[in-house]
Amino acid sequence: MSAFKDTKRITTSTMRAMKEAGEKISMLTAYDFSMARILDDAGIDIILVGDSASNVMAGHETTLPITLDQMIYHASSVVRGISRCFVVVDLPFGSYQGDSKAALRAAIRIMKESGAHGVKLEGGIEVKDSIERILSAGIPVMGHLGLTPQSIYKFGTYTVRAKEEVEAEQLEKDAKMLSKIGCFGIVLEKIPAKLGKKVTKMVTCPTIGIGAGPDVDGQVIVIHDLLGITKDFNPRFLRRYLDLYSGIKGAVESYISDVKSVDFPNDKEQY
Ligand code: KIV
Repeated sequence: MSAFKDTKRITTSTMRAMKEAGEKISMLTAYDFSMARILDDAGIDIILVGDSASNVMAGHETTLPITLDQMIYHASSVVRGISRCFVVVDLPFGSYQGDSKAALRAAIRIMKESGAHGVKLEGGIEVKDSIERILSAGIPVMGHLGLTPQSIYKFGTYTVRAKEEVEAEQLEKDAKMLSKIGCFGIVLEKIPAKLGKKVTKMVTCPTIGIGAGPDVDGQVIVIHDLLGITKDFNPRFLRRYLDLYSGIKGAVESYISDVKSVDFPNDKEQY
């Protein structure tokens, strides 16, 4: 199924080779050791330690509250669980906007303290200086355009971005710039499929879509959404492969009932 399945480690060069060979890149989020181990064992190409941890792990409404220390904690747990995939970590809100030296310090902390392989940050021209400074230290950087959740209070809603020509043109310019300065990939979130296809053709680095149609170089979704652990989030692009919410709830209900009826523990005569 994959021409790259025997690859010992996924690197930025592997991703570029996948784009050139027309093989789609698979990316999922993970935030802890056990989940990362399963995803890596299943053959995922990239794990994103997303700042969506702020939502699905910590229960915040937005991605804004998560801190650099918390991202490093999640990232180092993930890195201990993998042996093959590439691990990229979100720089949290406030750690890179407006101060490229602070951005570099944050990226270095992530790389040194977690052992991850690259960082991701949101935005285009407005964060170019930060990206260039991080790249100059030899740290792989992934861009993120379209719906950028760290700017949710500017947008006001989580609906599709770049439907209007002016915003679409700016996104194209930003994507070209990110690819030209050396980003190893770009996440395109919630943009029209036509624009996802156009941007993918115009840049040399791989594009990874989330709600950006089929004609991008790879796809990413949040693991809790794929597994059906979350249940109130139902965008059109989402496919749930399991209903773990019901599965876990049912298992816990059975356990409670077994404890109450003293059906659990097993092998009572041994104790
Ligand atoms: O934080 C995250 O999970 C993300 C993905 C949705 C792309 O940035």
